[in-house]
Amino acid sequence: MKEQKTGFNEAKKEKIGGKTFIKNPILGTKFTIAISSAKGGVGKSTFATNIALALKKIGCKVGILDADIYGPSLPKLFSINQKPESDGKTLTPINKYDIQCMSIGFLTEEQTPMIWRGPMVTSAIKTFTQKVKWNNLDFIIVDMPPGTGDTQLTFSQEIKMDGVIIVSTPQELALQDVRRGIKMFDKLGVKIIGLVDNMSHFVGDDKKKYHIFGEGGVKKTAEEFNKSFLGEIPINTEVGKQGDMGKPIVESKPEHPISKIYLTLANEIKKKYF
Ligand SMILES: Nc1ncnc2c1ncn2[C@@H]1O[C@H](COP(=O)(O)OP(=O)(O)OP(=O)(O)O)[C@@H](O)[C@H]1O
Ligand SMILES: [Mg+2]
Repeated sequence: MKEQKTGFNEAKKEKIGGKTFIKNPILGTKFTIAISSAKGGVGKSTFATNIALALKKIGCKVGILDADIYGPSLPKLFSINQKPESDGKTLTPINKYDIQCMSIGFLTEEQTPMIWRGPMVTSAIKTFTQKVKWNNLDFIIVDMPPGTGDTQLTFSQEIKMDGVIIVSTPQELALQDVRRGIKMFDKLGVKIIGLVDNMSHFVGDDKKKYHIFGEGGVKKTAEEFNKSFLGEIPINTEVGKQGDMGKPIVESKPEHPISKIYLTLANEIKKKYF
């Protein structure tokens, strides 16, 4: 079944735990999809950038909002060194690889640590969702920080989120955090599109699959919570290499088997909404 099409800029009223929340859309966007996982370092930012590029390749207008205020990745992954233009009231996203991009990292020096309190993070998110001139986007992909903190809470309670994709690696330690993440989004009434098993296995030169971090854990977790399992993305050194060089694999090597996995996933996501 297709998701309900809410169109541009329509607020949604929702009752969660007896409280009513007005969830506002991100202006200038149709569908907001967050990439999350309560665990750090599982490949959320890598997934967010590559899925955004894959959605673009199949004809969607796409933006990426890097919501990781303490550890932004988008400047590095997209090799963006410029500051966004501002008229004093609004910020214009930076266009790279035909994707509209915004990150706190565009506004600070690379080596400067963000030492902010929770309310400041919330206020930065409000700026990025309400004061950025996102232009006519089909999808905005939100790259979430690790954890279940202020950022996840602000997005879930105040922004019209059309879905979350949970990225995890197959280790039990990661899955423990993922379960916490699933429960949080369920409780906050945010639809979980499904789970992705990233770095699921390694394919050796002998073409054999090596399940370095264990096998099937993400799929089992999806089943445990009655969520969809979206698929596996193997470990591949090209993924990290291309990301480090500022041009993710889907953009730099569209014919690579990993890029093809992303394109298949992007088609599935597009079908759900259009
Ligand atoms: N499929 C993959 N194959 C090989 N390396 C990968 C793969 N996916 C991610 N990586 C690498 O894993 C590391 C962590 O990825 P990434 O920064 O995307 O994780 P994250 O979940 O966003 O981290 P954080 O929680 O810090 O935001 C990076 O070096 C990235 O290149
Ligand atoms: Mg990240």
